[in-house]
Amino acid sequence: DRAPLVDSFGRRHTSLRLSVTDRCNIRCVYCMPDEQLRFLPRQEVLTFEEIERFTRVAAWLGVRKVRLTGGEPLVRCDLPALVRRLAGIHGIDEVALTTNGVLLERHAAALQDAGLTRLNVSLDSVRQETFVRLTRRDVLPEVLAGIEAAQHAGFEPIRLNAIAMRGVTEEEVVPLGRFARERGLELRFIEYMPLDADANWRRDQVLSGDEILSRLEQAFGALEPTHREDPSQPARDYRFVDGGGVVGFINPVTQPFCGDCNRLRLTAEGQIRNCLFSTEEWDARAVMRSGGTDTQLAQQVRDAVAAKRAGHGIDLPGFHRPERAMYQIGG
Ligand code: GTP
Ligand code: 5AD
Ligand code: SF4
Repeated sequence: DRAPLVDSFGRRHTSLRLSVTDRCNIRCVYCMPDEQLRFLPRQEVLTFEEIERFTRVAAWLGVRKVRLTGGEPLVRCDLPALVRRLAGIHGIDEVALTTNGVLLERHAAALQDAGLTRLNVSLDSVRQETFVRLTRRDVLPEVLAGIEAAQHAGFEPIRLNAIAMRGVTEEEVVPLGRFARERGLELRFIEYMPLDADANWRRDQVLSGDEILSRLEQAFGALEPTHREDPSQPARDYRFVDGGGVVGFINPVTQPFCGDCNRLRLTAEGQIRNCLFSTEEWDARAVMRSGGTDTQLAQQVRDAVAAKRAGHGIDLPGFHRPERAMYQIGG
């Protein structure tokens, strides 16, 4: 049965976000706890073989794009080897990576060579003080070197993801804007979601994409919306009228885009989730490690898609945060 992965709301699923590890080399306040981290024991994390097998089944069901997330994917030993395997799967057109950039200088060329098609780098501030406050690590120079190496390796466009948190991001908007414009990088702002390990999220800490947009316009002149080719893309893109490039806004809180969601997720330990805010998981690892067939795996994927809810419901009464934080789900 190769029917497309359509859920009960008619959304067709063609994108798979694969978390390859829950470990990370920095400690962003909106994602990870500072201490008392209990990472997955190695044997619970999927092997490259298992990730490849799952992806092959997903591709067979119509998935066309995979994105590697974490934790920090580049802390996984020899990630380019996984990229190469995934890029070679029939049906997969795009293998993308979301990274914090700390280890990118070392790996950019190998990733390009392995067939990585697109690269997004998380960068919340270009000012050391804020960078350290947010990431709890003093590694801004490494990230900047990583971005440069990625440009040098030929990745284009490179997207920068910056968190949008009230009381933190306001002062970063213009410096980030200038940085991205000068280097031809595509800057995107992401509204803070209730996925931080410390459970400190409050609605009033969300800095809306609209507020950021007006700050950017004050500093750099008008922005105009660009035509959206892919309606399932979370980002709304704008172009600086003066030719300064593109800025995107991912506004899951103030302008939810769940109605066009095409995404499935697989956690580092092989649990299928149908949403970042999924309250249910399907244990693909158990199927794979108990001698299950590809047909059984495919059925699990279908079950996950069939059970998908309309949206995250962050603003609805009775909303419950998922038990897992972002680093345990995959960004
Ligand atoms: P492109 O392929 O470049 O458009 O990337 P992307 O925006 O799909 O992926 P990326 O990893 O850069 O996403 C950046 C952030 O957007 C994620 O870390 C999430 O915070 C948020 N995001 C991405 N996909 C979803 C989603 O399906 N739902 C919600 N609520 N947020 C998402
Ligand atoms: N809300 C929104 N985005 C988050 N990320 C991590 N935690 C959160 C959160 N609580 C995003 C970061 C990074 C990506 C890997 O995940 O912005 O770019
Ligand atoms: Fe899709 Fe869930 Fe994200 Fe909404 S919150 S866009 S349903 S993954």
